[in-house]
Amino acid sequence: MKENLAILGGPPVRSKPFVYEPAIGHEEKKAVLELMDSKKFSGFYKSFEGGEKVIEFENNWANYFNVRNAIAVNSGTSALHISLASTGIEPGDEVIVTPYSFSATASSIVMNNAIPVFCDIDPITFNIDVNKIERLITNKTKAIIPVHLYGYPAEIVKIMDIAKKYNLNVIEDTCQSPGTKVNNQFVGTFGNLGTFSTVETKNISTGEGGIIITDNDELALKCKLLRNHGEAYMNDKPRSYLTNMLGYNFRPTEFQAVLGIEQLKKLDKLNEIRNKLANFLIDNLSDFPELTPPQGHNDKNVIHHLLCFQYNESITNVPKSKYMEALKCEGVELSNGYPKPLYMNKMFLEKIAFGNNGYPWICSENGEKIKYFEGLCPVAEKVCKQAIVFSQIRYPNTLKDMEDIVTAIKKVNNSIEKLI
Ligand SMILES: Cc1ncc(COP(=O)(O)O)c(C=O)c1O
Repeated sequence: MKENLAILGGPPVRSKPFVYEPAIGHEEKKAVLELMDSKKFSGFYKSFEGGEKVIEFENNWANYFNVRNAIAVNSGTSALHISLASTGIEPGDEVIVTPYSFSATASSIVMNNAIPVFCDIDPITFNIDVNKIERLITNKTKAIIPVHLYGYPAEIVKIMDIAKKYNLNVIEDTCQSPGTKVNNQFVGTFGNLGTFSTVETKNISTGEGGIIITDNDELALKCKLLRNHGEAYMNDKPRSYLTNMLGYNFRPTEFQAVLGIEQLKKLDKLNEIRNKLANFLIDNLSDFPELTPPQGHNDKNVIHHLLCFQYNESITNVPKSKYMEALKCEGVELSNGYPKPLYMNKMFLEKIAFGNNGYPWICSENGEKIKYFEGLCPVAEKVCKQAIVFSQIRYPNTLKDMEDIVTAIKKVNNSIEKLI
């Protein structure tokens, strides 16, 4: 049935906004109030390992992911930054990374004075294409940073094989995939280190926050030092192992920790809701040739973080922007996801990270030769252009809300010729 599209003056499918807020209940409120009463907001002045709640949060996180160490920091970006630093990366070293991700995945490499080498992505998983990694390896390559984007796992087993063959470190950017598994093992636990974010938009939230996991005690200790000005001190131990390494202040507060403790208890339940909502959308939106659904449908090992469909303009002759505008008028706002591959940002195109003289690229002969340009990773460029991303697949939105999305999309798709 053809209905009058809202963009052309008809009634919208929905006027109620979708909800995008952290799933906070009385447990989090109680924990924060108790912390207020205790007046212990940070424990880092006593020990470089942090306060009681930070340590409890870290232990719980390590237990959940079944790893030896978890190190809490103040953001996912800090987690990436010091994870890479802990591996001993040198200025001018190269790190192979996906261009289709949030900026921090690649800028954390530059923060270490190292050089991102972008590897194109797989058109189905949107993650780094394992078949294109080896050709990018040089004598300066020291690490790979795969991202498990939107909750879909990168081909981490093959990535680990490549890393082993060339003696490279792997830092898994797991910011969008806490709970996703490969071969019954959590992503984030395959590489030397795995990094998470608990910023507002993530599966669980502490407002701002990040966590590093690793089974390597030495890397864990380095991360703790890097988090804390490079300084080690503890009440019950002499300050004999003060180090001269460059450090930062990436310490989380006890507030983030108490929120994290409560949120982690809810991770499974919240992930289940994400999958239920995501699978409903994929189930009901798979019959339109102009929309290609994402992978991971009904795969219990995948935890959907965001849902990224590909919109095929050549079938509809309607530009993606117009299509999205029509849906917005129906009350369903979608996003473009990452609008361009990371290397298309000015910092890379003009190599202007530190000052204007090309640092860190001029730190090595190879680095000076590396160029970033349109066409470098054609698959990523195409995916960026075609992506339409649903971020509504989260608590407290319900299947009823997803029904509105499906109704709006069917309505627009059935009358798409009116948009030409
Ligand atoms: C894939 C990815 N990497 C890194 C980050 C950085 O995390 P944060 O915003 O906590 O610094 C994010 C999230 O924002 C992300 O989605």
